[in-house]
Amino acid sequence: MARASRDVRQEVERLRREIEHHNYRYYVLDDPLVSDAEYDDLFRRLERLEAEHPELASPDSPTRRVGAKPLEKFETVRHRHPMLSLNNVTTREEMAEFDARIRKFLNLERVEYVGEPKVDGVAVELVYEDGVLVTGSTRGDGVVGENVTPNIRTIRSVPLRLQHGPKPVPELLEVRGEVYLPLDAFRRLNREREEAGQPVFANPRNAAAGSLKQLDPRITASRALALACHGVGEVRGVKLGRHGEALEAFQAWGLRPVPQTRVLDSLDAAGTFFAELERERDALPYEIDGIVVKVNDLGLQRRLGEISRAPRWAVAWKFKPRQATTRIVNILASVGRTGVLTPVAELEPVQVGGVTVRNASLHNMDEVERKDVRVGDTVLLERAGDVIPYVVKVVTERRTGREKRFHMPAACPVCGAKVVRAEGEVAYRCIGLACPAQLKQQLRFFGARGALDVEGLGEKLVDQLVDRGLVRDVADLYRLDADTLVALERMGKKSAANLRAQLERSKQTTLPHLLVALGIRQVGEATAKALAEHFGTLERLMDATEEELQEVRDVGPEVAASIRRFFVEKQNRKVIKKLLDAGVRPAAITRPKGPLAGKKFVLTGTLESMTRPEAQRRIEARGGRVQASVSKETDYVVVGADAGSKLAKAQALGVRTLEEKAFLKLVGE
Ligand code: IVH
Repeated sequence: MARASRDVRQEVERLRREIEHHNYRYYVLDDPLVSDAEYDDLFRRLERLEAEHPELASPDSPTRRVGAKPLEKFETVRHRHPMLSLNNVTTREEMAEFDARIRKFLNLERVEYVGEPKVDGVAVELVYEDGVLVTGSTRGDGVVGENVTPNIRTIRSVPLRLQHGPKPVPELLEVRGEVYLPLDAFRRLNREREEAGQPVFANPRNAAAGSLKQLDPRITASRALALACHGVGEVRGVKLGRHGEALEAFQAWGLRPVPQTRVLDSLDAAGTFFAELERERDALPYEIDGIVVKVNDLGLQRRLGEISRAPRWAVAWKFKPRQATTRIVNILASVGRTGVLTPVAELEPVQVGGVTVRNASLHNMDEVERKDVRVGDTVLLERAGDVIPYVVKVVTERRTGREKRFHMPAACPVCGAKVVRAEGEVAYRCIGLACPAQLKQQLRFFGARGALDVEGLGEKLVDQLVDRGLVRDVADLYRLDADTLVALERMGKKSAANLRAQLERSKQTTLPHLLVALGIRQVGEATAKALAEHFGTLERLMDATEEELQEVRDVGPEVAASIRRFFVEKQNRKVIKKLLDAGVRPAAITRPKGPLAGKKFVLTGTLESMTRPEAQRRIEARGGRVQASVSKETDYVVVGADAGSKLAKAQALGVRTLEEKAFLKLVGE
């Protein structure tokens, strides 16, 4: 590899600085300078140069945020100064006592405070030596925490190297803050977990803690965590007089301070700040559970010191908890857009943190069973942000014995099709191709690339078609006439004509494309192709038994069962018939031509020189097909050692048999 010239070295340095600056603008200042595409472009350029010049590698390159290897376990880290916790107050009176205590201790008339939101996350400490991030750790027991540096490095709002600003970069900086998961990321994560049937997180704090304590940093990197800095441990090389000054310095160094801080010159000002944040709480993009009030002067903080692991100079003023208990009146299954059935509890209405709550998602059957939630139970609810409330636990002390267990319905409550739980999956799904709950998703899927590729069948159009009742299943697309289309929003004559032309064209498709478009669970492009090659026509595939389906390359018992269930469902057969009646013509794809084209084989017994899948691959590579059982149509039965009834049947039907040697001659490579 050529050694990097000075130009390349400079270009790499420049790209690194530029990318980190954009990270800072985006994640710290929330004020990006470039589009995502431009950012990606810079990133890819840097990646390419670093790959071409490995000697320029540097651990603080933005390309190296995500470490490659999972850890075995976390090492421990001793904090230079203990990380304290906070005393709580819940009333204005208690807050006044805090203020009075401080003034008395310091013998001062007035003390200046700083108010901050109390961010609901996980406390961490980051150590920067000469501006370079060297360690990130959790609070642990306050004295010793866990070394989670590889995970901290994946957080985009954490600079790997501090910026030079108006304040010089300190020789040593221990910065403390809260790692948290913004609410939109929290909701997204829980939605994904719900669909995958994994246990969901009760609140953003648990989600942040769970994400930070992953041994595999790639998982942490996928979780969109953020850091808000709210204090310092040891600082060398820079003098800080007030807490507010530290918050400003954070920003200059490229660290994100807790947002919405305010200098408070009196107890009244603290009361106003508390009331304002409590009002705003639901509109914030992250979860807070109170405010923290801190003495601003760092010298006074030192004089005040600490008492039993909590500082005398700070206090947490907590909001009312957003928990309540209520009774479950009923449990229903709600069908989502992907066909997953979610158990939802109907509640006796209850106020939780100022909002009336009537329903709570129970997420999935595993969750219902784990918590043993039953109809009639009294449950403890928690509401995080404006998120649907979460059932924390059943209050078993209130059980009467009349509570009823919930079972998932066998038929979809929306369309009546069969509900199935695939092997190894937690989620129950409706398999109906004409299920109104899933129709929008199905239509988008049907028209997607790799499926029937209908250009113009976008989300907005699909919404209109379904919401106006113009389309009740995918086949209805072919019944749309020009007048109906033109009457839709944002649909001129020309685009209506284009769409109809696209639909017309889509009728001449191939069998694999149509199979993908039908959205059969576990049938992706590769399986669709293998199925089409094997069966040739849709009719044959629709009538194939599970055993026959398993003859197809890569189709195991689970996939075979899923395909069979799909084609057995009456509703689905009806929609397919409608598609064919509308003129959809899925052409069989030509199987590889070869010397065995059209020949049907049955394998029996054990071959010495190869496994069965290998034998099948060789037959198929030459254009032949492998069947499960012998019939009059079979051309050859390949006979290995210990062959059984299939050999007998071949002989009875007069089908030609091939010993291994003869077979090898036929398919030899
Ligand atoms: S100051 C000695 N400021 O709340 C001072 N803590 O209940 C300790 N927290 O362990 C921390 N937001 O993890 C401070 N603006 C904030 C905070 C905050 C959240 C957490 C922190 C601490 C816990 C104590």
